[in-house]
Parts: sequence; structure tokens; C-alpha cells
Amino acid sequence: MNVKPFLVEEWMNKYEMDAVYNIAETCVDSLTLGELLSLSEDPMDFLGGLQDMKLTYGHIEGSPELRTLIAGLYKGLDSGNVIVTHGGIGANFLLHYSIVDPGDRVICVHPTYQQLYSVPEGFGAEVKLLPLRPENGFLPDIDELKGLINETTKLIVINNPNNPTGALMEEEHLKQVADIARSCGAYVHCDEVYRGLYHEINTAVPSIADVYEKGISTSSMSKAFSLAGLRLGWIAGPEDIIEECFKHRDYTTISCGMLDDILAVHALKNYHRIMERNLKIVRGNARILDEWVRREEQISYIKPKAGTTAFLKYDLPVSSEEFCLGLFKKDGTFLVPGKCFDMEGWLRIGFACSPDVLERGLKNISEYIRTL
Ligand SMILES: Cc1ncc(COP(=O)(O)O)c(C=O)c1O
Repeated sequence: MNVKPFLVEEWMNKYEMDAVYNIAETCVDSLTLGELLSLSEDPMDFLGGLQDMKLTYGHIEGSPELRTLIAGLYKGLDSGNVIVTHGGIGANFLLHYSIVDPGDRVICVHPTYQQLYSVPEGFGAEVKLLPLRPENGFLPDIDELKGLINETTKLIVINNPNNPTGALMEEEHLKQVADIARSCGAYVHCDEVYRGLYHEINTAVPSIADVYEKGISTSSMSKAFSLAGLRLGWIAGPEDIIEECFKHRDYTTISCGMLDDILAVHALKNYHRIMERNLKIVRGNARILDEWVRREEQISYIKPKAGTTAFLKYDLPVSSEEFCLGLFKKDGTFLVPGKCFDMEGWLRIGFACSPDVLERGLKNISEYIRTL
């Protein structure tokens, strides 16, 4: 399989470990193991209970408890609709590995997480990008989508909420995408790793798996749950798809780690407490970012509605890579250049870090802009 370099991951791999103010990261400020365990009534008892656990492969499919808890994040699914994977990235890859054949047409929104269109392309699909434009609030244009489908369309890929823009497709919009997919028999894959991180209270958007009979959701413990270190994700969708994914997964995974499984169960049992913490961080930081954008003359954006990222447009005569490298060299403030999303003139910020890091990072960007 010939695959293009994954630009955003290459950028992160190269610089992230040396970042002082990391405002490129997309997880909500990660929990420590201690913080996670302290959600249990007796953390020492919880840890003690692990001592006699034999470190085998564990449940090959993921523990029944984990699959049931994951299914509970959806309205109409049960554990038979869920397969556990190595992170959201493993979920996306396994799904495409399992269902995309050479010559299939795959339509994918752009900009988004590059894996979602470069992997199908690597598997020999004919990939058509559906541009998300700032003038449409970075939401897909339904007529344009209609114009891209044909009889070979196997899959429409969306990412809701969207990385990098923070745009949020609401239920009606998802139903319109489902109607188009239904008209040509295509599946809709929605990468939902940022689902639940809504900036306005009283917002709730269903999963594609609850909107469309051929809707497939991928997600993970990394972003909304702040537990990327567990490397645990999943695919949720129709049973025939899950079976196909199991068949392919035997060649790539065997099982996910037993410890990751147990800790993910613990986190999901404490879903509401973790989400309360994380929504507080995301909403508070979105406000800090918004006030800063309003003050900065050279920066503008389409205000994000959900998730942990925003796409900033800058009005300065430097490339996005030069901008980010200059900023990084100055004092270790770390952003992602729009170039990694094939979008020159833009910068991606991940704002769900600790508020101190965000405020300091934004101040550093302001100072840096004055030097340009
Ligand atoms: C849209 C999207 N999907 C998937 C992933 C992969 O995340 P993970 O494998 O940690 O779940 C990322 C990471 O940035 C992402 O932004």
C-alpha cells in the first residue's frame, strides 16, 4: 500500500516533545492515572484488585462490560454493534481496511484528519474531497455532495465535530447526508472522537450510527475523555460491518490491552464526572480564545461550536510553516500550520489544554505577531 505522509502527525512527532506551551494538542487536558483512579470510591482497593490479574490477551473482542458501556453512548446499539480498537486511529484504519476496495468511490470532507481520506486512497479508492468552506461555516454543502455521488460510491466520510475547524453538523444536516448516501447505497462513516464537547449548553447532536441504518461511528477515549494514554477506541455500527471488521482485525490486533480495557470501563462508568470536568475546561478556554481573537487585528476565525480545535486565519506575509516555526523558536509555543491541512494562511490551535498554558501561549502569539 502506497500512502502519503500524514502531515499533521509528522509535524506533531517532530516538535511536540520539545514544546513549552503546547497549544497544538487536541485532547482535553489529559487526566493523570491518580485523577482517574480517584473517581473510584477506594483507589487503593481498585489498584489492589489488579495485583492478581494474569496479563493474558484478555477478552479478544474487548471485555463484555466495556462493549456494553460503549454501546450505551449510542441510542439504538448494543454490544454486538461495537468492536474495540487501538485508539480512534485504529478504528478508522480498521474500518477502511475492512470495507474499502480498489475502484470504490469514497467522498470525504476537507479539511479534516488526513487519515480519513489518505487511507482510502492508499487502498485504491477513487477519493473525492468535499470542501468545507469558511463562508459556509465550514459545513458541507449538500448540493455539492449530491454532485459527487455515483453508482460506485461506497462510503461518505465526515468528521463531527470537525478537526480542525470546530464546526458542528446538527441532526438535520446529518439526516440530509444520510438521505444522499441512501440514494446510492453508500455507508456514512463519521469520526466522532470530539462528540459531546459542545461549547453551548443544551446542545446535543446524535451519532451517525443513530441517524442512518448504514451509519458507522468511530471514536475513542482520547479526546472527550482525556485518556489518550489508554490507546483505546472503537467502531460502532451495523452488525454486518462489525463482523467484517472482526475478520480483518484478527490480522492486525488480536486484542487491546487488558489494563486499558479495565481503565476505560472505569472511565465510562464515571462518564458524567469526566464530561463535567472536560466541558468546564473546553467552554472556559473557548471563551478565552474568543476574547483573544477579537483583540488581535491580524487574526480572525469562524467561531468553533464544538471540540477542542479552532482554525485561525492570519493576515501576515509569511507562510503558515514559517509562522509556526518562528513562534516555536521564540519561546516554545507550539501550533500546527495550515499547510498540514493543505490550507495555507491558516493555523490550527488546540485550546483544551490547561487555561494557564492557553493564556500564556496566546500572549506569546500576540508578542510574536508584533515582531513580524
Ligand atoms: C478526528 C480525529 N480522529 C482520530 C484521531 C486519533 O485519535 P486517537 O487514536 O488518539 O483516538 C484524532 C487525533 O488527533 C483526530 O483528530
